[in-house]
Parts: sequence; C-alpha cells; structure tokens
Amino acid sequence: MIDLAGRTAVVTGAARGIGLGIARRLAEQGASVVMTDVLQDPLDEAAADLRREGRSIKTISIDLTTTGAGQQILDAAVSISGKVDILVNNAGIGISGTLEEFTDEQWDHTIAVNLTAPFRLARAIVPAMAARGWGRVINISSMNASMGMRGDTAYAASKAGLEALTREIAADYGASGVTANTIAPGTIETPLNRDILESQDPDSPMMRIVVHNKPILGNGRPDDIAAAVAFLASEEARFISGQLLFVDGGLVNTRFVPDGPNTKPFRYLPKN
Ligand SMILES: NC(=O)c1ccc[n+]([C@@H]2O[C@H](COP(=O)([O-])OP(=O)(O)OC[C@H]3O[C@@H](n4cnc5c(N)ncnc54)[C@H](O)[C@@H]3O)[C@@H](O)[C@H]2O)c1
Repeated sequence: MIDLAGRTAVVTGAARGIGLGIARRLAEQGASVVMTDVLQDPLDEAAADLRREGRSIKTISIDLTTTGAGQQILDAAVSISGKVDILVNNAGIGISGTLEEFTDEQWDHTIAVNLTAPFRLARAIVPAMAARGWGRVINISSMNASMGMRGDTAYAASKAGLEALTREIAADYGASGVTANTIAPGTIETPLNRDILESQDPDSPMMRIVVHNKPILGNGRPDDIAAAVAFLASEEARFISGQLLFVDGGLVNTRFVPDGPNTKPFRYLPKN
C-alpha cells in the first residue's frame, strides 16, 4: 500500500483525462493535491467530486503559459501545507502537422505548454524540495518522443525535450533527495484523443499498430498512468531517478506480431 499521507502534490492539467486520474489516485493514497488547469468549470467539478469522497483538494485555474504561473501555483500549494513534495507535469497539447503545415505560433505554443511550462514550474518548486531533502518530479511525456509517428512534429520534439529536462533535474537534485522521472504513455482513452480514436477505421494500419499490435491489447486508461505516478511518488521509489517508463501496453519495446496462420515467431535453433 503506497502511503502518501502528509505529502502535498501539484498536478497540472488535472481537470480531466490522465491528470484527473493522477490527482484522484494521489489523493486516495493520502496526499493533499493542488489540481491546476486552464479549464475553470471542469476543474471545479472534478475537485468537488473528490472533496465529496473526503479528499484534500485545492484548485488553481491558470494558463500555464502565463508569466508567473509557476509562482502562483507554488503559493497555492504553500497556503495549504507550506510545501510541495510531489510535482506532476501532466498538462500537454498536441497539434498535428508536417513541417510546412506548422506555423511559428503553433510551434511556439506547443513548446510553451509541453516544455517551457514544466521547466518554469520545476524552477519554482524543486529548489525548495531540495532544501527540505525530499521531492518527486514526475513528467508526462509520450511514446511519440521515442518513435516517429507521422505529423507529430512539434509534439514529439517538445516531449523529447521534456524527457531530457527530467534527466537534468534528476542529475542536479538527486544528491538533495529529489528524484525525477518521466512516464511515457501509449494510447490512453481521454478527451485529448477520443475524437481521433473514434474517427479512425478500426482496421486502418495506424489503429492496428497502436491498439492491436502490441502484447497488451486495447487502449490504456488514465488509471494505468496514475498507478505508475503513485509508485514513483512514493518513498519506496527512492532509488529510481532519471528513468523513462513506458506505460504503453508494451508497444514501443516490442516488435509484436499477433498470432495468426502465417505469423509463427522466428526460432533460432542450434544447428547440431
Ligand atoms: N491520451 C493519450 O493517449 C496520451 C498519450 C501520450 C501522452 N499523453 C500526454 O498525457 C498528458 C495528458 O493527456 P490527456 O490525454 O489527459 O489530455 P487532455 O486534453 O484530456 O487533458 C490535458 C489537460 O491539460 C490542460 N491544459 C492544456 N493546456 C493548458 C495550459 N496552457 N494551461 C493549463 N492547463 C492546460 C487541458 O485543459 C486539459 O485539461 C499530456 O501531456 C499528453 O501529451 C497522452
């Protein structure tokens, strides 16, 4: 049983989807959670649900790309418990397009939300974690940072940058008791991708790859990511830092061919 009692967590993009799943899980494990999002009403509704379940929740509705957002979120957390122990940079956006389809504004906005905002939030929060000698930073990336998927230009680049930032935080603050890890989700059913998934032909090559051609079939759920976050946030994970954990049903790290009449696996047998 992971025990996060006495810990305060900040979760960005917590109004819905994976972020809401993470906030709920950390609160269930005993943490006080500061849920932040740019969407005011869904954030308030989600927080009200969790409070009804007896959880300790504070909300701050803010656009992470505004100057000073990091400090405002830190102040909100400090007002409930004087500190932040766990930072989960989950908020993210994805705009599709190839090089020539991307405008400067779309590129800059993607980098601002997916990479600059986590940097600024970590800069506001991590030094105080280090001063207290305990902290957990968990950044949510994507399998697309590790494998090329067509039309993911700025998203993939921003998430790869986030993974590098995570390793740097791990290197710089590990000696002070702060760990930093990245979780790279595979396809998880959330508002971000529900429309995309529903509009696809289930037999299209892309859907066969992301949904079916992997050891664990189907899509993931926000809870799958939340479970990994809760573990990395725990005391038990003290010796795990600088890691990239795929929670993707085994997609990225296997070349998987489903069983079928002509899909016998290769067997390398000794000649003699
Ligand atoms: N769903 C997936 O299959 C999947 C796969 C890989 C990675 N991810 C990553 O997981 C994270 C969560 O994805 P999701 O599917 O839950 O997405 P989502 O769109 O359902 O939720 C993202 C949340 O971030 C918030 N947000 C966006 N821009 C913001 C800003 N400027 N300021 C404050 N809040 C902002 C949104 O309002 C939203 O509530 C993202 O970083 C995403 O890239 C998701």
